[in-house]
This record gives sequence, C-alpha cells and structure tokens, in this order.
Amino acid sequence: MRNQIAAANWKMNLTYQQGEALLDEILKAKVELADHQHAVFAVPFPYLIMAQTKLSARKNYAAAAQNCSDQPAGAYTGEVSAEMLKSINIGYCVLGHSERREYFSEHNQSLAVKTQRCLELGITPIFCCGEPLSIREVDAQESYVEAQLKESLFHFSAEDISKIVIAYEPIWAIGTGKTATSAQAQEMHACIRRQLKEKYGQQVADAIPILYGGSVKAGNAKELFSSPDVDGGLVGGASLVAADFIKIIQALK
Ligand code: PGA
Repeated sequence: MRNQIAAANWKMNLTYQQGEALLDEILKAKVELADHQHAVFAVPFPYLIMAQTKLSARKNYAAAAQNCSDQPAGAYTGEVSAEMLKSINIGYCVLGHSERREYFSEHNQSLAVKTQRCLELGITPIFCCGEPLSIREVDAQESYVEAQLKESLFHFSAEDISKIVIAYEPIWAIGTGKTATSAQAQEMHACIRRQLKEKYGQQVADAIPILYGGSVKAGNAKELFSSPDVDGGLVGGASLVAADFIKIIQALK
C-alpha cells in the first residue's frame, strides 16, 4: 500500500512550551504506526529540533518545516534554507500552503524552485494545491489544480516526482469548518492521480500519496481517509488538540 500520512500543520500557533506539551501528550498515547503509516508534525522553525528529537525516537514519526527559501544561501534576512533544514535532519517540508500563496505572494514558479531545493537534499516536499471558492463556484477546480501541478511539478523526472507528497486543500474548506464531503475529496484526488498518470504513467501515479486538507477533524477523518485516493490529511486546527490528532492518526488506512 502507498504511504498514508497524518500531517499536523501547527501554523503560527502555540508557544514552545505548549508545543512540547502537545507532542508529549500525543506520544504518550503510543499509537503504533505500520510501515506504510506516518505521522508528521509541521511546527514553527524554532521548535524543529525539539520536535524532531522527540519524534524521531518513534517509528515513522517525524517533524516537518512549514516552508523554506527558494534561495540556496546568502543575504536573505529572515529566510531559512532547505540546506539548514537538512543539517538538523528534517525530512519533510510543507510547500505552497494557500496561506503562503495568499499572504506571502508565493506562486507556482517559485514553488517549483523550492520543491527542487528540497528534492536535491532528500527532503520530502508536501506540496499543497487547491482552489478558492470563486473557482469551485464555476466548477473550474480541476483545471485550476492542474495548472498548479503543471507549473510547479510536471517538469520533474518520474524519479523525482515519486518522492513528493501532494496535499489537496480546497481553500474554502481551510479553517472554515466547511469540510469537503468525502465524495468531493475523492473526486479531486482521483483527478489529480489521473493527471499524474497521464504525465508519468500508472505506476508512478499509484505510488504518490495525496493528502486531503481543510477542516479535517477527529470525527470526519476516518470517513475522508477511507476513500481510495485519499492517503491521509494535512490538519490545521484539529492538530492542536492532542486527543483529536491522536484519533486522526488512528484513522489512517
Ligand atoms: P484546517 O487547516 O484543518 O484548520 O482547516 C488545514 C490546513 O490549512 O492545512
């Protein structure tokens, strides 16, 4: 079975002490993961070493960065490079979250560069895509997401694309409590997999995990993840509550 991933996205929430306590509580539950299951925690940069130290003691638990620079190194005040992440053993990096696209002007071309930087260093990009409400209302979500994938990812080789995790996050469902139905999620995930297949073939398309994000909760995770093309979730709000995120990890196929 392809990898199934419960990914927490803390965004800009929690103090260091609160983050540490949250991880301790989640780890105390001792949820064992099968070889194909992974629990990943995208935490703020200053917490990465703490999180990675705690998480890496457990099989298939890991910390992730929420972003990295498109520049390799140099005079870019306030930026964090992929190489810096690598030097503290971070194995995942969320890229192109809709909040970064909206508030920090990230676009498909710079995300292509960020993805390249991560791949070169063996960091798994969790590449976010997804449409705003205005696009969903005119039923243009498939071509919108296709353009995001084409412009950021489809120049990569089959070998490189196989190392990427995709997160489909309809923007109208993020932080709104308005989850896509499992049928809506499955429809878009199947569409993304079809696009991957057209470009890279069945085998590659079948191996790439596609996570759903947007108001995943303890109560809906099992149903969402049960769809054949939904390989787990990227979870904001509910990842800040230990009991909820534990249930979400347990909901993985
Ligand atoms: P949410 O956020 O679960 O709070 O909707 C998801 C995300 O932005 O990744």
